[in-house]
Amino acid sequence: MAGDASRMRKPVIAGNWKMYKTQHEARDFFAAFKPLVAAATHCEIVVAPPFTAIAACVEAAKGSTIGIAAQDVYWANEGAFTGEVSPRMLVEAGCRAVIIAHSERRQLFGETDESANRKVKAALAAGLTPILCVGETLAEREAGNTQKVLEKQFRGSLAALTPAEFSRIIMAYEPVWAIGTGRTATPEIAAEAHKFLRGLAANSFTAEYAASLRILYGGSVKPENIKGLMAQAEIDGALVGGASLDAAQFAAIVNY
Ligand code: PGA
Repeated sequence: MAGDASRMRKPVIAGNWKMYKTQHEARDFFAAFKPLVAAATHCEIVVAPPFTAIAACVEAAKGSTIGIAAQDVYWANEGAFTGEVSPRMLVEAGCRAVIIAHSERRQLFGETDESANRKVKAALAAGLTPILCVGETLAEREAGNTQKVLEKQFRGSLAALTPAEFSRIIMAYEPVWAIGTGRTATPEIAAEAHKFLRGLAANSFTAEYAASLRILYGGSVKPENIKGLMAQAEIDGALVGGASLDAAQFAAIVNY
């Protein structure tokens, strides 16, 4: 296990279950997963189940340090918004964090930087930790537009945040071409993007907050590649999709 005390930012290993697992399956996962990560103090562990399994996961995670997150949120506290869930509902259900603007939300469900910005602000106001996702598509990378895309997403999604608000977010760099494809960004490619994002943070907020911003890498993270990714000082953890569905695999990533 790395767990190197030299890291100034505590790593976060977060699992994004996407539209997988019923309550029953979630309970089975925790029964197997909890003992495997009971000794892990070198990182924060987060699991983001579908809305319907949040309460079951909060219950199942009791007695551990595993935090439960939602995969999306709406920005209003309540109202005539059929199908949406509000920040205070997530807090009441026991969530500590919420993933915002995952690329699947951006690509399949019309999420924009503007809507992401409203969600980030609402999540912060409710006391949730936003895990804001950014990342370029393959076409954008091949056209040499990676930095331009990341900058637009960064500025748009975090517009009008105070530095103090900014200090409470977690960012996830997830190149779209690496998600669910088995094609991980090399640790160097990921670190380069993280460095760029940290530079934007220093530029838009303060150098101090930029230095403490945790930037997770996401996209085909597996037990086999987590060590190499975490060896990069710029990489502060991982947002894991497919491999977070299996207790043994996700535990191996946590215990990298
Ligand atoms: P993956 O998904 O690990 O299955 O590539 C990552 C994500 O979409 O967060």
